[in-house]
Amino acid sequence: MKINALKKIVRKIFLKYKLSKEHTSICVDAVINAELVGAPSHGMSRLKMYCDRISKKVINPKAKIKIKKISRSIAHIDANNSIGFVAADIAIKTAIGNAKKTGIGLVAVKNSGHYGLSGYYAEQAVKKGLIAMVFTNAPPAVAPHGALKSLFGTNPICFATPTGSKVPFILDTSISMINRGKIRVAAREGRKIPEGVALDKLGKPTTDPKKALEGVQLPIAGFRGSGLAWMVDILSGVLTGGDHAGRVKDPFTDFSGPQNIGHLFFVIKPSLFVGNSFNKRIKENIKIIKKLPKIKGIKKILYPGENKFNRFKNNLKKEISISKTVLKDLEELLAH
Ligand SMILES: NC(=O)c1ccc[n+]([C@@H]2O[C@H](COP(=O)([O-])OP(=O)(O)OC[C@H]3O[C@@H](n4cnc5c(N)ncnc54)[C@H](O)[C@@H]3O)[C@@H](O)[C@H]2O)c1
Repeated sequence: MKINALKKIVRKIFLKYKLSKEHTSICVDAVINAELVGAPSHGMSRLKMYCDRISKKVINPKAKIKIKKISRSIAHIDANNSIGFVAADIAIKTAIGNAKKTGIGLVAVKNSGHYGLSGYYAEQAVKKGLIAMVFTNAPPAVAPHGALKSLFGTNPICFATPTGSKVPFILDTSISMINRGKIRVAAREGRKIPEGVALDKLGKPTTDPKKALEGVQLPIAGFRGSGLAWMVDILSGVLTGGDHAGRVKDPFTDFSGPQNIGHLFFVIKPSLFVGNSFNKRIKENIKIIKKLPKIKGIKKILYPGENKFNRFKNNLKKEISISKTVLKDLEELLAH
């Protein structure tokens, strides 16, 4: 489907579900961006979930988001159970504004929901010449090292920096072997998942996405990944006032209340310690790494974010492909 045609449909749906025009625009851009960067598991495939949560009154389409100023650098946002995209958009813009004024912007968000891709917000800071770190927790999916039960979310870690070129460095990675969205899409479309990424509920390795969703996902790098997931739960849940320790609700299956996810946005001026030489220094850093001898089969050493940047550029010229399942969702959402 053509990008603009799809945007119109998504806009119509969010407006129908009572989001304001301003909030609708924020959500449309975030959902379409996920498709364009090649992350459909965080794009159109979640639209029905957001709308179902609005219908069941566990996302507040008319949220009154409160921003409490703690200092010129720091703010605390109560998202009032808004859709996560909107709370995150306000938070990153506040953090960017504070960092421009003081060198550092730190914004914590509580009572929020699923906000899609961390890198989408970090990129906003990079476009203003700033460094960003973005954290969010998520519903239980990954078992802590040594535990038999999922508790951590796939809790992405995101770090982004200007590079002195038009392609930003954006490391944006789940701490699980595979992100949960990909497992959900595989389950909906009847496809297998790779080996070594999940266990079924009895603790046996599985490539069946449905069994993986009932069981546990495996963290990256064993206890190290488990430790990183825990760190993200502390930074985005314990520190912010959001839910934590496995209490964030699954957006697809648990309608018993709002998700109460927490996010943390940390934005830094790159000139803080090295003045104007940051650009020269980061360019040199990347150049040295890219020039290293390569292992067989690798033509180019990429830095995180390069692949997504190229996908986005190419996808802008194409139509967005929509699966049959998502088309059915769209028909349903437009009909009722
Ligand atoms: N909101 C949530 O609850 C939630 C939870 C989990 C994940 N997510 C989002 O899902 C998205 C996908 O996560 P993911 O873990 O599947 O990401 P991924 O595995 O596709 O990529 C992880 C990182 O590795 C980099 N990368 C990939 N190939 C590379 C290469 N050849 N050389 C160098 N770097 C390379 C990417 O640029 C990216 O920064 C992220 O944007 C994340 O924020 C959101």
